[in-house]
Amino acid sequence: MEITLVQNEVTEIETDVLVVNLFEGVTSPGGATGAVDKMIGGLITDLIVDGEISGSESELTLIHTSNSVYPDLKASRVLIAGLGSSDRIDTNAIRRVSATVIRKLREVGVKKFATIVHGAGIGGVDVSSSAQSLVEGSLLGAYRFLKYRTTDTKRKPDVESMVIVESDSSKLTAIGAAIKKGVTYSNAEILARDLVNEPANKLSPANLASVALKVANDNGLQCEVLDEADVSALGMGAYTGVAQGSSRPLKFIHMSYLGDSSNLENNLWLIGKGITFDSGGISLKPGLGMGKMKGDMGGGASVIAAMDAIAQLKPNVNVHVVCAATDNMPGGTAQRPGDVVTAMNGMTIEVDNTDAEGRLTLADAIGYALSKNATRIVDVATLTGAARIALGDGVSPVFGNDDDLISAVLKSSEVVGEPMWRLPLDSVTKRQNASRVADVKNTGGRGGGSTTAAHFISDFAGETPWVHIDIAATSMLDSVRGWFPVGATGVPTRSLVDLALRLGK
Ligand code: BES
Ligand code: MN
Ligand code: ZN
Repeated sequence: MEITLVQNEVTEIETDVLVVNLFEGVTSPGGATGAVDKMIGGLITDLIVDGEISGSESELTLIHTSNSVYPDLKASRVLIAGLGSSDRIDTNAIRRVSATVIRKLREVGVKKFATIVHGAGIGGVDVSSSAQSLVEGSLLGAYRFLKYRTTDTKRKPDVESMVIVESDSSKLTAIGAAIKKGVTYSNAEILARDLVNEPANKLSPANLASVALKVANDNGLQCEVLDEADVSALGMGAYTGVAQGSSRPLKFIHMSYLGDSSNLENNLWLIGKGITFDSGGISLKPGLGMGKMKGDMGGGASVIAAMDAIAQLKPNVNVHVVCAATDNMPGGTAQRPGDVVTAMNGMTIEVDNTDAEGRLTLADAIGYALSKNATRIVDVATLTGAARIALGDGVSPVFGNDDDLISAVLKSSEVVGEPMWRLPLDSVTKRQNASRVADVKNTGGRGGGSTTAAHFISDFAGETPWVHIDIAATSMLDSVRGWFPVGATGVPTRSLVDLALRLGK
């Protein structure tokens, strides 16, 4: 969708549909909505008085405003979008409303529309945040994954163009910049969604590496891809153990962006779990729903995609992306439950369950980052089914060893609307990972499954500031929620972009 910014009065805009808004409880609309209302003989006020529109969040009212009847208004239709209560409006509400609007317009068959920036007037949201949220809600809300749907001819086509109208010239520069940022954030999240939605037969570790190379190339970044022999030479026995049951070769991806090259210690390592298909290995998963395990590279997708936006937004921090990509398959050469492997840092691991493979690959990805002098690590992983048991599919659990880095991650998650919540790394749960035969075991028993997984990773991060985000439940949804579609959500891509900007201010 093309997005343009135009300075004009809303009533002067010639467009298929003009989108204005209404707060709950407002009886005589002001601002842009009031101006439109005046041009159409108080029709909106009448609808409010008659109780047909209330302004509740995402309430949509489409009225036809034919030019022959209302010559003072150039738009041929007006869509009134409810914003909810003006004291509860925030950027998430703007994203939700924008997503609902764009889907409605598509449903109605609209190709081009114009809209004002919602919530910046009496809502009091600052104009940059509201413009960015309008763009994000629209682009992310319109997302569909259709590339393999070849026979569905009745499908409604995408909306082609959105014109953002602002009459106040003093706001144009800020809105213009916010639109660009919103587009960059959204495109990154959309790339992550596409990768997660892609079936595993179309997205091997090598294919994922090609995507990373392309992102790096497009942005003039370094990208190294290590093969099995390379990572074996580095001693990544935990990672190669996972990969050994698969016929598709592993690919270890390392991208770097130097935003503060004179101070290499100022770095952020984004490490994403990159299991391109998780069958469970010899500890084979049950068949029901196993297809969802094509998305077990959601962490890797989000870090690679975040790098695309980071390279364009150029924060003053060195950002590295690592993804130890591989399938987890039960081939004849697969590792067995009970095997002991040695990670890059020398620690031995009892592989109690081959389905707890993500933490094994992360152990070596973190070992690699530390060998390159990582000073801050954030890992993102579809790690545990227990994340859904703990917090449901609306909030990602977060763990870590550094209050400052955790606060920064949580702040970014809040700003972009990708909810996260910190859980403790308590010493009682940690004991559940104890092994009789090795330094640590890759499972921790029934209780606190997300926590024991996080404890395992923390053993490899050591004292270096580290945060772990478990996106097992939030990476894919079964139904639409606001600007999140069915299937891949792309989280926490925008949080990571925002984090890099926050650390690199
Ligand atoms: N990739 C899965 C976790 C997962 C489950 C992601 C559901 C998305 C949806 C992970 O590799 C896994 O299998 N974890 C096991 C760990 C267990 C064997 C200790 C789990 O959560 O059951
Ligand atoms: Mn698994
Ligand atoms: Zn997995």
